[in-house]
Amino acid sequence: MYQAPLPKELAELVPEEADGRIRAARAKLGRRLMILGHHYQRDEIIRHADLRGDSFKLASHAASHPEAEVIVFCGVHFMAESADILTADSQAVVLPNLAAGCSMADMANIIQVRNCWRQLEEALGGVRTLSSIEGSGPIVVPVTYINSAANLKAFVGERGGTVCTSSNAPVAVRWALDKGDKVLFFPDQHLGRNTGVKLGYDPERDMCLWDPFKPLGGNTVERLQEARFLLWKGHCSVHSRFTVAQIADARRRHPGVRVIVHPECELEVVRASDMNGSTETIIREVTAGEPGSVWAVGTEINLVHRLSQENPDKTVFCLDPDVCPCSTMYRIHPSFLCWSLERLVEGEVVNQIVVRDPVRHFAREALDRMLVLA
Ligand code: 13P
Ligand code: SF4
Repeated sequence: MYQAPLPKELAELVPEEADGRIRAARAKLGRRLMILGHHYQRDEIIRHADLRGDSFKLASHAASHPEAEVIVFCGVHFMAESADILTADSQAVVLPNLAAGCSMADMANIIQVRNCWRQLEEALGGVRTLSSIEGSGPIVVPVTYINSAANLKAFVGERGGTVCTSSNAPVAVRWALDKGDKVLFFPDQHLGRNTGVKLGYDPERDMCLWDPFKPLGGNTVERLQEARFLLWKGHCSVHSRFTVAQIADARRRHPGVRVIVHPECELEVVRASDMNGSTETIIREVTAGEPGSVWAVGTEINLVHRLSQENPDKTVFCLDPDVCPCSTMYRIHPSFLCWSLERLVEGEVVNQIVVRDPVRHFAREALDRMLVLA
């Protein structure tokens, strides 16, 4: 989506000015406005959030605040889309900068996913779904990570599948495999693989990787028939930076360190760590750690810095000394938040994210299922 440049005077605001103007606009908008902030947002944004959370928590907040006329979503595009789908038509969801996307979400598009499904139908002698159980072939349950476009969520919803987040992936995948024969998991291969391993599946025997740029995803028909997990070849550019060598280094430098990583990291990294979980889980574990404990954290740097500041009785550091912020989350600059709020004060809703039927209808089915599978 195209984001027009901001007027010069806004683009050049110094932090203190932006902060004051954001506060002033908020005060005028009062209870009509709710600002949601993802944990990866920078401090200059998160301090203005009414509620902060991981993607699951923010989706639940959006669904349970019908009194908010406008929700300004400080996160990335797929999160704002999910919020729009989960809120009433009378509520507006605003993404302050339309360029705030997610590189992982962009690794699967609807044409590729439809193409994958068609190839599976041919290779497996038909495919049945939870919403169309008649016919031949295995029951394939599509599960999409919430980091995906709304039309992929609709694809999943129409076929009886579910959305998941990093905090409910094990429950969602368990549900899918109890009901069906195979799971098609997209777009993050690592969350899919780590979740399968958590549930006791073997990554070599039970899983195969679907490369959307190769015929049959780069697999033989036999592999597709055997596998219970078909994992889309997508990844997060932030979390794939963490390595086993960094963990070994942290353990050497800090004997007794607790290593906790996000499940978007590679399987070897998750295996070498002590714990893994969504951003909310990481916060909970570090916060509950005993005073004096040392934590090496494998996730986005804004969250790690905040955890370190909010836990002065512990040592908290990022596993990768050179890790950068998620560049797309970082596009929610205070100038953009200021601009979107000041336009609201003037009665203009800018950057509204609207998902229309039929995508809205089916995506809602998949998101509602996600909220139940907590
Ligand atoms: P959470 O589900 O932990 O919020 O993660 C979202 C995300 O984009 C992580 O990269
Ligand atoms: Fe997407 Fe990775 Fe950024 Fe999360 S951290 S929003 S998965 S690019």
